[in-house]
Amino acid sequence: MAIRAFSLVLIWLLLSTPCSGFEPVSGYAFLGEETRAMQDDEFENPGMFVVEQGAALFNEKRVDEEHACGSCHGEHGEGLDKSSIAAYPVVDDNLGGVVTLQGRINYCWEIRMDRFPHEYDHPELIALETFVRNLALGQTIAVETGGPVAELLEQAEVIYNTRYGQLDMSCHQCHDQHRGQMLRGQLLSQGQANGFPEYRLGQGRVVSLHQRLRECFISFRADPFEPGSIEFKLLELYLMRRANGLKIETPAVRH
Ligand code: HEC
Ligand code: HEC
Repeated sequence: MAIRAFSLVLIWLLLSTPCSGFEPVSGYAFLGEETRAMQDDEFENPGMFVVEQGAALFNEKRVDEEHACGSCHGEHGEGLDKSSIAAYPVVDDNLGGVVTLQGRINYCWEIRMDRFPHEYDHPELIALETFVRNLALGQTIAVETGGPVAELLEQAEVIYNTRYGQLDMSCHQCHDQHRGQMLRGQLLSQGQANGFPEYRLGQGRVVSLHQRLRECFISFRADPFEPGSIEFKLLELYLMRRANGLKIETPAVRH
C-alpha cells in the first residue's frame, strides 16, 4: 500500500515537472519559411546593416585616439575568440559580477580607449554588440554553470518565475507553460535569447535583449526593469544558460 502510494506520488511528480528533460528550441523553429530564408541570407537579412555599422565603429579612431577596437582585436575582429563570445554572460567579480557581452564592450570602450562610457543599450553599443556576436554566428552557446555562477542562476530563476504587474504573469507561464499557443496573434516560443541583438520586422529595427524584455514586461502590464539593471543582467544569464546547446543566430529576424 505504502509502495503504491509512493509510486503514485512519483508519477505525479514526473507529470507535474514540465521542465524535466528541457530541450532548448530556437525561436527560428517558430517562424514561417519566408522569414527563415530572410534570416539565412546575408544579403536579405536587414539586421546585417547594423553588423556593418558595428564593423565601421570597430575600426573608428576618433581625434587624438591611439587605438580603435580593431587595433587590439584585429580589423575584422579575428583576434576575438568565438567560443568565448558564445560563453557570455560571464561572472567576474573584478568587473562587478554578471558581465554581459555588451557590458564587456563598454568596459573596453571606457578603460582601453579612455572614452566616456555609454549608457546601456546606446545605439553604438548595440551595433558593436551585434557585430561582435555575429562573429560567432553558428557557434554553440556554452555558458558556465558551476562555481559562483550557480548561485546567481538560482537568483535569476526566482526572477524568471516571479509574477509581475497587473496581469500577474511570469516568464515561465508564457514561455514554458503556454509555449506553442497563440497569444494576440503571436505564436509563443520558448523565449530564447540566442539571436540577439535581433531584427524585428514589426518595428523595422534591431533591438537588444534588454529592449525585448522591456516589451514583454509592458505586454503583461508590468513596470519593466531598466536596460543594464541587475535584474535584466540576471535574466540574460538565465536565458543564455537555458540556451546552452543552441547556436548563435545574431542578427536573428523575428516578428
Ligand atoms: C588597447 C587594446 C584594446 C582596445 C582598444 C579594445 N580592447 Fe577589447 N580587450 C582588450 C583586452 C586586453 C581584453 C581582455 C583579453 C581577454 O580577456 O582575453 C579585451 C577583451 C574584450 C572582449 C572580451 C573577449 C573575451 O574573450 O571575453 C571583447 C568582446 C572586446 N574586448 C571588445 C572590444 C571592443 C568592441 C572594443 C572597441 C570598443 C575593444 N574591445 C577595444 C584590449 C582592447
Ligand atoms: C504574456 C506573455 C509573455 C510573458 C509573461 C513574457 N513574454 Fe516573452 N514574449 C512573449 C511573446 C508573445 C513573444 C514573441 C513571440 C515569441 O517568440 O514567443 C515573446 C518573446 C520573447 C523573447 C524573444 C524570443 C525570440 O526568439 O526572439 C524573449 C527572449 C522573451 N520573450 C523573454 C521573456 C522573459 C525573460 C520574460 C519574463 C520577464 C517574458 N518573456 C515574459 C510573451 C510573453
